Amino acid sequence: MSPPSSSGTGPGKGKPPRGLQKKKRVRTARGRKNSSTRWLARQLNDPYVAEAKRHGYRSRAAFKIIQLDEMLGLFKPGRRIVDLGAAPGGWMQVAADKVKPSATGGVVVGIDYLEMDDIPETTILCKDFTDEDAPEVLKQVLGGQADVVMSDMAPPTTGHRQTDHLRIMALAEMAYEFAREVLAPDGIFLAKLLQGGAQKTLLDAMKRDFKKVRHVKPDASRKDSSEMYIVGEGFRG
Ligand SMILES: C[S@@+](CC[C@H](N)C(=O)[O-])C[C@H]1O[C@@H](n2cnc3c(N)ncnc32)[C@H](O)[C@@H]1O
Repeated sequence: MSPPSSSGTGPGKGKPPRGLQKKKRVRTARGRKNSSTRWLARQLNDPYVAEAKRHGYRSRAAFKIIQLDEMLGLFKPGRRIVDLGAAPGGWMQVAADKVKPSATGGVVVGIDYLEMDDIPETTILCKDFTDEDAPEVLKQVLGGQADVVMSDMAPPTTGHRQTDHLRIMALAEMAYEFAREVLAPDGIFLAKLLQGGAQKTLLDAMKRDFKKVRHVKPDASRKDSSEMYIVGEGFRG
């Protein structure tokens, strides 16, 4: 499956069409839990899910990175991009489409412990990022410095807000340690977080290392989720 173009109007610019969908209701089937019914109703009524399917993106998350790219200018031909927590591959599809690795010499490499189907012109590592040798393997594929290190890594949620916050923070901090080692001067780091109180250490470190640090929540990130992204721009090297 070739990645869809992200140029032009409509979803390629990260916006779902309005009003095209009639709200679908889902009845609770015998044996289906209420939480599954709610999930199904949300999926069926989510314009980003429909648009991702229509454009051949593997996940609705593709629209988050399209919107983040519009804000931050992440992907340019020839850039070297690392995607941490890449499965099922929406972000990598968008990145490869814009970086055009085979024509420009750019690199798009992703890592996830879940298996993924290949994405043309990219390298996928099926590996846990917390494995001791993961940073080294990523560096070998990169073969040099990175322009962007982005992490959408999220462990399975427990439903306990503080636990989920702390677990995602731990991954973001590891991602950041790796980014500090590989980013080129002026590089960009971004990582998914869940709102909570344990961000100070990461925030302070990023403020030292980047010209600009901010929190962003793209439109495609669900409003009822505490998910957001911390972004560092202009790595001081
Ligand atoms: C929200 S999904 C990423 C979606 C992806 N950005 C896309 O566009 O399709 C989060 C991913 O993080 C991965 N993940 C969580 N912990 C990880 C770890 N320690 N190492 C590698 N991947 C991890 C999960 O397996 C999951 O696929």
